[in-house]
Amino acid sequence: MTIGLIAGTGFENFDAMAVEDSLTLSTPWGSPSGPLLRGTLGGAPVLYLARHGKGHALAPHAINYRANMAALKEAGAKAILAVYTVGGITEPTWKPGTLVVPHQLIDYTWGREQSFSLEGEVLHVDFTDPYDETLRQALLAAAAPVQADASLPLVSDGVYAAVQGPRLETAAEVDRLERDGCTIVGMTGMPEAGLARELDLPLAGLGLVVNPAAGRGSVSLPEIMAAAEAGRGRIMAVLAAAAAALGA
Ligand code: HPA
Repeated sequence: MTIGLIAGTGFENFDAMAVEDSLTLSTPWGSPSGPLLRGTLGGAPVLYLARHGKGHALAPHAINYRANMAALKEAGAKAILAVYTVGGITEPTWKPGTLVVPHQLIDYTWGREQSFSLEGEVLHVDFTDPYDETLRQALLAAAAPVQADASLPLVSDGVYAAVQGPRLETAAEVDRLERDGCTIVGMTGMPEAGLARELDLPLAGLGLVVNPAAGRGSVSLPEIMAAAEAGRGRIMAVLAAAAAALGA
Protein backbone atom coordinates (compact mmCIF):
# COMPACT_ATOMS: atom_id res chain seq x y z
CA MET A 1 0.00 0.00 0.00
CA THR A 2 1.46 3.36 -1.01
CA ILE A 3 1.29 5.94 1.77
CA GLY A 4 0.99 9.63 0.99
CA LEU A 5 2.95 11.85 3.37
CA ILE A 6 2.27 15.55 3.74
CA ALA A 7 4.34 17.74 6.01
CA GLY A 8 4.76 21.43 6.50
CA THR A 9 6.87 23.78 8.56
CA GLY A 10 10.38 22.39 9.01
CA PHE A 11 9.86 19.63 6.42
CA GLU A 12 10.67 21.18 3.07
CA ASN A 13 13.03 18.25 2.51
CA PHE A 14 12.37 14.72 3.58
CA ASP A 15 15.87 13.34 3.87
CA ALA A 16 14.96 10.01 5.51
CA MET A 17 13.25 9.01 2.27
CA ALA A 18 14.95 7.13 -0.60
CA VAL A 19 13.66 9.18 -3.54
CA GLU A 20 13.17 7.40 -6.88
CA ASP A 21 11.52 10.12 -8.91
CA SER A 22 9.82 13.46 -8.75
CA LEU A 23 6.34 13.83 -10.27
CA THR A 24 5.10 17.19 -11.50
CA LEU A 25 1.34 16.79 -11.74
CA SER A 26 -1.52 19.07 -12.56
CA THR A 27 -5.08 18.27 -11.59
CA PRO A 28 -8.52 19.56 -12.60
CA TRP A 29 -8.23 21.65 -9.40
CA GLY A 30 -4.93 23.25 -10.31
CA SER A 31 -1.34 22.52 -9.34
CA PRO A 32 -0.25 20.99 -6.04
CA SER A 33 2.18 22.84 -3.77
CA GLY A 34 5.12 21.26 -5.61
CA PRO A 35 6.35 18.02 -7.11
CA LEU A 36 5.44 14.74 -5.43
CA LEU A 37 8.50 12.73 -4.47
CA ARG A 38 8.04 9.03 -5.05
CA GLY A 39 10.23 6.51 -3.27
CA THR A 40 10.46 4.43 -0.13
CA LEU A 41 10.55 5.15 3.56
CA GLY A 42 11.12 2.38 6.08
CA GLY A 43 11.11 0.05 3.05
CA ALA A 44 7.50 0.97 2.21
CA PRO A 45 6.38 2.80 -0.94
CA VAL A 46 5.57 6.43 -0.19
CA LEU A 47 4.72 9.68 -1.94
CA TYR A 48 5.84 12.88 -0.26
CA LEU A 49 4.46 16.36 -0.74
CA ALA A 50 5.79 19.50 0.98
CA ARG A 51 2.58 21.32 1.91
CA HIS A 52 3.99 24.84 1.79
CA GLY A 53 5.96 24.32 -1.42
CA LYS A 54 9.58 25.10 -2.08
CA GLY A 55 11.12 27.47 0.43
CA HIS A 56 7.91 27.52 2.49
CA ALA A 57 6.46 29.98 -0.03
CA LEU A 58 2.76 29.22 0.51
CA ALA A 59 0.89 30.55 3.56
CA PRO A 60 -1.69 28.16 5.07
CA HIS A 61 -4.63 29.98 3.44
CA ALA A 62 -2.88 30.05 0.04
CA ILE A 63 -2.28 26.30 -0.22
CA ASN A 64 -4.28 24.52 -2.94
CA TYR A 65 -5.50 21.72 -0.68
CA ARG A 66 -7.74 20.26 -3.38
CA ALA A 67 -4.89 19.96 -5.87
CA ASN A 68 -2.64 18.46 -3.18
CA MET A 69 -5.08 15.74 -2.22
CA ALA A 70 -6.18 15.05 -5.80
CA ALA A 71 -2.53 14.72 -6.89
CA LEU A 72 -1.73 12.28 -4.09
CA LYS A 73 -4.76 10.21 -5.01
CA GLU A 74 -3.92 10.30 -8.72
CA ALA A 75 -0.33 9.23 -8.02
CA GLY A 76 -1.57 6.16 -6.18
CA ALA A 77 -1.66 7.00 -2.47
CA LYS A 78 -4.03 4.68 -0.60
CA ALA A 79 -3.74 6.40 2.79
CA ILE A 80 -2.39 9.71 4.08
CA LEU A 81 -0.21 10.52 7.07
CA ALA A 82 -0.19 14.26 7.68
CA VAL A 83 2.35 16.03 9.88
CA TYR A 84 1.24 19.20 11.66
CA THR A 85 3.27 21.63 13.70
CA VAL A 86 0.93 22.82 16.42
CA GLY A 87 0.58 24.97 19.49
CA GLY A 88 -0.41 23.17 22.70
CA ILE A 89 -3.59 24.54 24.28
CA THR A 90 -4.05 22.32 27.32
CA GLU A 91 -1.78 20.28 29.52
CA PRO A 92 -0.29 17.73 28.91
CA THR A 93 0.42 19.17 25.47
CA TRP A 94 2.18 22.46 26.21
CA LYS A 95 5.73 21.25 26.13
CA PRO A 96 7.56 21.70 22.81
CA GLY A 97 8.62 18.31 21.47
CA THR A 98 5.42 16.57 22.58
CA LEU A 99 3.83 14.42 19.88
CA VAL A 100 0.03 14.24 19.65
CA VAL A 101 -2.14 11.99 17.49
CA PRO A 102 -5.50 13.79 17.41
CA HIS A 103 -8.78 11.87 17.30
CA GLN A 104 -11.06 14.84 16.54
CA LEU A 105 -10.98 18.30 15.00
CA ILE A 106 -12.91 21.53 14.83
CA ASP A 107 -12.64 23.62 11.67
CA TYR A 108 -12.37 27.40 12.20
CA THR A 109 -10.92 28.16 8.76
CA TRP A 110 -12.78 30.28 6.23
CA GLY A 111 -12.54 31.23 2.58
CA ARG A 112 -10.68 28.06 1.59
CA GLU A 113 -11.86 25.75 -1.18
CA GLN A 114 -13.04 22.91 1.00
CA SER A 115 -14.88 20.45 -1.23
CA PHE A 116 -14.64 18.58 -4.50
CA SER A 117 -18.40 19.03 -4.89
CA LEU A 118 -19.41 20.24 -8.32
CA GLU A 119 -22.54 22.20 -9.08
CA GLY A 120 -25.43 19.76 -9.10
CA GLU A 121 -23.26 17.04 -7.54
CA VAL A 122 -22.93 17.86 -3.86
CA LEU A 123 -20.91 15.54 -1.63
CA HIS A 124 -22.11 15.04 1.95
CA VAL A 125 -19.52 12.68 3.38
CA ASP A 126 -19.73 11.27 6.91
CA PHE A 127 -17.07 13.04 8.96
CA THR A 128 -18.11 11.92 12.45
CA ASP A 129 -14.63 10.54 13.03
CA PRO A 130 -12.29 12.60 10.87
CA TYR A 131 -9.20 10.49 11.50
CA ASP A 132 -8.75 6.84 10.56
CA GLU A 133 -8.33 4.69 13.67
CA THR A 134 -6.03 2.07 12.07
CA LEU A 135 -3.67 4.80 10.89
CA ARG A 136 -3.86 6.53 14.29
CA GLN A 137 -2.88 3.31 16.05
CA ALA A 138 0.00 2.78 13.61
CA LEU A 139 1.30 6.28 14.39
CA LEU A 140 0.95 5.73 18.13
CA ALA A 141 2.76 2.38 18.03
CA ALA A 142 5.54 3.91 15.94
CA ALA A 143 5.84 7.00 18.14
CA ALA A 144 5.94 5.28 21.53
CA PRO A 145 9.57 4.05 21.42
CA VAL A 146 10.79 7.22 19.68
CA GLN A 147 9.30 9.50 22.35
CA ALA A 148 10.41 7.19 25.19
CA ASP A 149 14.01 7.32 23.91
CA ALA A 150 13.86 11.11 23.85
CA SER A 151 12.09 11.33 27.24
CA LEU A 152 9.33 13.38 25.65
CA PRO A 153 5.57 12.94 26.00
CA LEU A 154 3.28 11.20 23.52
CA VAL A 155 -0.39 12.14 23.79
CA SER A 156 -2.65 9.48 22.32
CA ASP A 157 -5.64 11.68 21.51
CA GLY A 158 -6.55 15.30 21.07
CA VAL A 159 -8.87 17.75 19.41
CA TYR A 160 -7.17 19.72 16.64
CA ALA A 161 -8.38 23.29 16.14
CA ALA A 162 -7.80 24.24 12.50
CA VAL A 163 -7.45 28.04 12.43
CA GLN A 164 -7.05 30.42 9.54
CA GLY A 165 -3.72 32.08 10.38
CA PRO A 166 -1.25 33.05 9.22
CA ARG A 167 -1.00 35.14 12.36
CA LEU A 168 -0.93 33.33 15.66
CA GLU A 169 -3.93 33.63 18.01
CA THR A 170 -4.80 36.08 20.74
CA ALA A 171 -4.93 34.67 24.27
CA ALA A 172 -8.73 35.12 24.25
CA GLU A 173 -9.02 33.18 21.02
CA VAL A 174 -7.09 30.31 22.55
CA ASP A 175 -9.30 30.51 25.68
CA ARG A 176 -12.28 30.07 23.37
CA LEU A 177 -10.66 27.12 21.61
CA GLU A 178 -10.06 25.56 25.02
CA ARG A 179 -13.71 26.11 26.03
CA ASP A 180 -14.69 24.39 22.78
CA GLY A 181 -12.67 21.36 23.84
CA CYS A 182 -9.66 21.83 21.57
CA THR A 183 -6.27 20.67 22.86
CA ILE A 184 -3.94 21.63 20.00
CA VAL A 185 -4.05 24.36 17.35
CA GLY A 186 -2.65 24.51 13.84
CA MET A 187 -3.38 26.13 10.48
CA THR A 188 -3.34 23.36 7.89
CA GLY A 189 -5.36 20.39 9.16
CA MET A 190 -8.46 21.60 7.31
CA PRO A 191 -9.73 21.44 4.66
CA GLU A 192 -7.07 18.77 4.06
CA ALA A 193 -8.73 16.06 6.19
CA GLY A 194 -12.21 16.76 4.81
CA LEU A 195 -10.96 16.59 1.24
CA ALA A 196 -9.20 13.29 1.94
CA ARG A 197 -12.51 11.93 3.23
CA GLU A 198 -14.28 13.08 0.05
CA LEU A 199 -11.68 11.15 -1.95
CA ASP A 200 -12.13 8.11 0.30
CA LEU A 201 -8.50 8.36 1.42
CA PRO A 202 -8.06 7.35 5.08
CA LEU A 203 -5.98 9.96 6.92
CA ALA A 204 -4.37 10.41 10.31
CA GLY A 205 -2.30 13.28 11.63
CA LEU A 206 0.83 13.52 13.73
CA GLY A 207 1.09 16.79 15.63
CA LEU A 208 4.44 18.11 16.82
CA VAL A 209 3.98 20.70 19.55
CA VAL A 210 6.34 23.59 18.80
CA ASN A 211 5.02 26.15 21.28
CA PRO A 212 2.52 26.61 24.07
CA ALA A 213 -0.49 28.30 22.45
CA ALA A 214 -0.96 32.06 23.02
CA GLY A 215 -1.51 32.93 26.67
CA ARG A 216 -0.01 29.63 27.87
CA GLY A 217 3.70 30.49 27.67
CA SER A 218 6.17 32.28 25.48
CA VAL A 219 5.58 32.13 21.72
CA SER A 220 8.17 33.41 19.26
CA LEU A 221 8.90 32.52 15.69
CA PRO A 222 12.56 31.62 16.34
CA GLU A 223 11.47 29.30 19.17
CA ILE A 224 8.83 27.72 16.92
CA MET A 225 11.32 27.13 14.10
CA ALA A 226 13.90 25.71 16.55
CA ALA A 227 11.33 23.31 18.04
CA ALA A 228 10.23 22.23 14.55
CA GLU A 229 13.87 21.57 13.61
CA ALA A 230 14.48 19.67 16.85
CA GLY A 231 11.49 17.43 16.12
CA ARG A 232 12.39 16.59 12.53
CA GLY A 233 14.42 13.48 13.22
CA ARG A 234 11.80 12.03 15.53
CA ILE A 235 8.96 12.72 13.08
CA MET A 236 10.91 11.00 10.29
CA ALA A 237 11.58 8.00 12.55
CA VAL A 238 7.89 7.76 13.49
CA LEU A 239 6.74 8.03 9.87
CA ALA A 240 9.29 5.45 8.73
CA ALA A 241 8.17 2.95 11.36
CA ALA A 242 4.49 3.63 10.67
CA ALA A 243 4.99 3.35 6.90
CA ALA A 244 6.90 0.08 7.37
CA ALA A 245 4.07 -1.35 9.50
CA LEU A 246 1.31 -0.15 7.17
CA GLY A 247 3.07 -0.78 3.89
CA ALA A 248 4.01 -4.37 4.72
N1 HPA B 1 -1.24 28.43 16.60
C1 HPA B 1 -1.59 28.07 15.33
N2 HPA B 1 -0.80 27.36 14.55
C2 HPA B 1 0.39 26.95 15.02
C3 HPA B 1 0.81 27.30 16.32
C4 HPA B 1 -0.04 28.07 17.16
O1 HPA B 1 0.26 28.40 18.31
N3 HPA B 1 2.04 26.76 16.48
C5 HPA B 1 2.33 26.11 15.33
N4 HPA B 1 1.34 26.23 14.45
